[in-house]
Amino acid sequence: MCGIVGIIGKQDVAPLLVEGLKRLEYRGYDSAGIATLVNGGIERRRAEGKLANLARLLEDKPVAGGIGIGHTRWATHGVPNERNAHPHATQRVAVVHNGIIENFQELKAELTAQGHVFESDTDTEAVAQLIDHHLAQGLSPRDATAKSLERLRGAFALGIIFAGHPDMMIAARQGSPLALGYGEGEMYLGSDALALAPLTQRISYLLDGDWAVLTADGATIFDRDGATVTREVRLTQFSGALIGKGQHRHFMLKEIFEQPEVIGGTLNTMLNPAERTITLPSLPFDLGVVNRVRIIACGTSFYAGSVAKYWIEKLARLPVEVDIASEFRYREPPMEPGGLAIFISQSGETADTLAALRYCRAHGQHTLALVNVPESTISREAEATLLTLAGPEIGVASTKAFTTQLVVLACLAVGMARSRGAISGETEAEICQALAEVPARVAEFLRRDDEIRLMAQGISEARDVLYLGRGASFPIALEGALKLKEISYIHAEGYAAGELKHGPIALIDDSVPVIVICPTDELYEKTASNVQEVVARGGRVVFFSDQEGVDRLASPPFAAMALPAVNPFVAPILYAIPVQLLAYHVAIAKGTDVDQPRNLAKSVTVE
Ligand code: F6R
Repeated sequence: MCGIVGIIGKQDVAPLLVEGLKRLEYRGYDSAGIATLVNGGIERRRAEGKLANLARLLEDKPVAGGIGIGHTRWATHGVPNERNAHPHATQRVAVVHNGIIENFQELKAELTAQGHVFESDTDTEAVAQLIDHHLAQGLSPRDATAKSLERLRGAFALGIIFAGHPDMMIAARQGSPLALGYGEGEMYLGSDALALAPLTQRISYLLDGDWAVLTADGATIFDRDGATVTREVRLTQFSGALIGKGQHRHFMLKEIFEQPEVIGGTLNTMLNPAERTITLPSLPFDLGVVNRVRIIACGTSFYAGSVAKYWIEKLARLPVEVDIASEFRYREPPMEPGGLAIFISQSGETADTLAALRYCRAHGQHTLALVNVPESTISREAEATLLTLAGPEIGVASTKAFTTQLVVLACLAVGMARSRGAISGETEAEICQALAEVPARVAEFLRRDDEIRLMAQGISEARDVLYLGRGASFPIALEGALKLKEISYIHAEGYAAGELKHGPIALIDDSVPVIVICPTDELYEKTASNVQEVVARGGRVVFFSDQEGVDRLASPPFAAMALPAVNPFVAPILYAIPVQLLAYHVAIAKGTDVDQPRNLAKSVTVE
């Protein structure tokens, strides 16, 4: 949420700032801006809308300067327009910010009373004005910043430059992620290592409360008490190559089509296909003695966790609670020491999930991160990490991260079950066989993309869409509804099929498509009965099952598609694909912005 980048370079930095912002645009795209120092004075270029608008502005009005900061915005305070775009600046200082300054109104009132004139509606401008205030009193940039940081409440990653100081920049982190990059006679800062990868592979991560003074030769880092600290410089695994869409029209489509490969790659880290066993990476706690599991995540990652609840409870016979991170953190749940808390996050930076992790750690839980970004904060703070090898996911709507999360969770469920002696070698072998076949089944289904495209035409005119599923297909129904909402802006709800009669059935008429996720498993008959209830009321059922399931349906649905037959255990992974493709094609039919849907951002680093 909001991406920031900063460079102390040897030549004009504006083009490099824009390059860095391109790699951060997934974090927000309401507006963008940069500030550099030209002859010691602050020069800004800002533009409303996507980064392309800023790039165009810079072509018309280039800006020089060997030091600069840049920002791509996801609006929190103040509508997205040029006036509210970062950097926020006074004559003396310019600031880019990711996060929320919670006490900005109090600061603004104070500073306004002292004669400061605010230009924007943002919380960030209070930081610029506060530092300016201290600079005006004769403090050095470093002291003015230190004094200002003491006053800030909330979450922030800040990049700050100062008029008349072309050789230094300040970075500060509280809550929101911030990385420093070490170049040859150049220094960089960025919201993540991905943004900095084309500039340098040598990265260090600031910890909460840290702030740093950067010069061309390096950085002096201070902790929240002002003591000088060192933070390990490591080599990032991110490639500097710009991630392209390949032959696909959108990142989302490319990422959907990458799934056979990334599911296979993720499986390979744990599955031995010859022996048909799962080997989990060694963990610093014994899964065999864990007595309780809690899974905490947001959005799509939460739905992956919800599928895992079915898997772990059934296979490992362990009680699992699944929580939405933003609810969990304020509920202050009592926790008995010795439990296992699993945190699922593509980005590894989601603020609520991170806060939940810290809470669980403080309450004596073993913490296990399941992330797609190995260097992320959640990964660094958890006791152990399991990685999804989905590769960078750029489309805002999560697709390949979800299915690789499911793969890891399926393996984890098997690993837990075995360490507790809850499954036989035979069952493990069957599940392993089914998992090993998933990449091929997904690839097989993806070849039928055109059929989904045609199906989507009938849905794109709908105002409301319902998704139904039972058992582990219920979270897939929820995920399908979320995907459709977020990229096509059609109102959609996922329901447990058995809940239909308890209310939602009142919505059924011939204008409401009802998408049913119904593999032939032990619950097939029950869901099929619910389908009949919908058909009887004129509902337009779109039925996803396998051939047997389609054939067994008593009355024909509006549309049906037979997926490859699979072991029911792995069905949630396969059935995620049609709901992703359906959302994609409906969005295309509606002409919405698939990769950058309105109001959304990929990495939610504010509450
Ligand atoms: C939906 C989507 C979001 C994320 C959620 C959590 O397509 O992408 O719902 O799943 O914001 O993000 P992570 O997994 O990065 O914690």
